[in-house]
Amino acid sequence: MLPLFLGPPEFRLWRNSASIRANRSDSGLCNRGLIIYNRAGFSRTKAVTIPPTKPRIAIGSDHAGFCVKETIRTYLESAGYAVSDLGTSSEQSVDYPDYGKAVGERVVSKQADFGIAVCGTGIGISIAANKVPGVRAALAHDLNTARLAREHNDANVLALGGRVVTGEAAIEMVQVFLTTAYLGGRHQRRLDKITAIEKEERAQAAKR
Ligand code: RB5
Repeated sequence: MLPLFLGPPEFRLWRNSASIRANRSDSGLCNRGLIIYNRAGFSRTKAVTIPPTKPRIAIGSDHAGFCVKETIRTYLESAGYAVSDLGTSSEQSVDYPDYGKAVGERVVSKQADFGIAVCGTGIGISIAANKVPGVRAALAHDLNTARLAREHNDANVLALGGRVVTGEAAIEMVQVFLTTAYLGGRHQRRLDKITAIEKEERAQAAKR
């Protein structure tokens, strides 16, 4: 252990990297622990709770999803999320693959934590987003599918049908999607197989 004489004089702060690592892995995303030893040699952990930051959201739609996309964006901004709106910006006809790709790329490049993609049915834009390696776009129709997309599939893009769901239902699905944790466990084996498919197919395509 390496003694560091920092902080209040009544405490010696020791850096114990093994303990710090253990604290990090035990405490999830929010807590950071420092081991502090006083002069008598007793240790105690000072847990500093950092409020969870809201995920950054990339959102995009075609013309058919525009109104619902605007409703979702307005909600997210009012709720304090950082939102990158990748368009479209009106109900003038555009092509959904452009927006599915843009949302997907924003997520896999880690400029956003989650994507939300809306077209008329949610089908076309989810197909397009899923062509971006690393994207797991899930088309949800209700709260249950929005929740399961996170719990089982660790979906990183939520796709919605702007001609299928109301703005109110869309917001509820977005809330569930953004606040539900991936369950891991047996599901990870299946996600690993999806990643393996991506790799195999890329290798095959390179040989053609
Ligand atoms: C556009 O008319 C429509 O085809 C598109 O928004 C989407 O529903 C495709 O899957």
